Amino acid sequence: MFQNLLIDYNGRIQHIIINRESKLNALNKATLAELHTAMYDAFHNDRVGGIIITGAGQKAFVAGADISEFASFDSEQGGELASQGHAKVFDLIENGNKPVIAAINGFALGGGLELALACHIRIASDNAKMGLPEVSLGLIPGYGGTQRLTRLVGKGRALEMILTADMITANEAHQYGLVNHVVSQDDLLTKAEEIMNRILLRAPLAVASAITAVNASTQTGVDGFQIEIAEFAKCFDTLDFKEGSTAFLEKRKPNFKTK
Ligand code: COA
Repeated sequence: MFQNLLIDYNGRIQHIIINRESKLNALNKATLAELHTAMYDAFHNDRVGGIIITGAGQKAFVAGADISEFASFDSEQGGELASQGHAKVFDLIENGNKPVIAAINGFALGGGLELALACHIRIASDNAKMGLPEVSLGLIPGYGGTQRLTRLVGKGRALEMILTADMITANEAHQYGLVNHVVSQDDLLTKAEEIMNRILLRAPLAVASAITAVNASTQTGVDGFQIEIAEFAKCFDTLDFKEGSTAFLEKRKPNFKTK
């Protein structure tokens, strides 16, 4: 169905593999459109509990937006490219109702790192290299990188990465808090699935509420504490809360229904 993505399932985990290996999985327009569709479908598919995004091959997660497609753009087209990308892919992922893990298996540059930054959790293989090299092209990051990287690693480190355009290693990214774990390439998907499977044991509607509340901590003009109170309150009306608390009191494992 997709030309630039491979979709695979392992139980309730959906794998989305960016599949343009000859271009180091660079995000062209077609790939972004497919990513929008795949993510939207995954968020609305009851059989999917969580999504793991990775890149095809051993070299790259995603080496950025496809430079060949925007080389002749003017400011209007550039603005359109960025705002469409934010709305249709990057914000969609960040605000998703299911956990999304980026399994960074190689280069994650420019839009590729921004894609990983939009995910809820990042894991890298030890060969991965990450960076926002846009200023070396005469641009700045345009898919949320200036905001999400800064929030994650702090202004000083973000500015150094963005202004030098240099790549950092997986271990440096780990030290910065940019990725949560570094493992060998062979172990990358196993580790991502292990974390996802732990999340999938939990109450799905509570997981969705937690994502919403944590996201609110970094949204401007939003009182995250009020969002937390509202999401906390919402949980009390779910059957999963009744099940989770009853199972605890009855000393058994809960059987959540996403209701
Ligand atoms: N957009 C379009 N094509 C890209 C790309 C991108 N972001 N990144 C890599 N490619 C293409 C190359 O043009 C090349 O295509 P070709 O074989 O048709 O010439 C192919 O992918 C392989 O890349 P290549 O540069 O030959 O591999 P390398 O091992 O020498 O270098 C990188 C790897 C990642 C260092 C290098 O590809 C690179 O710097 N890419 C651009 C990174 C970037 O600036 N991203 C931000 C974009 S906003």
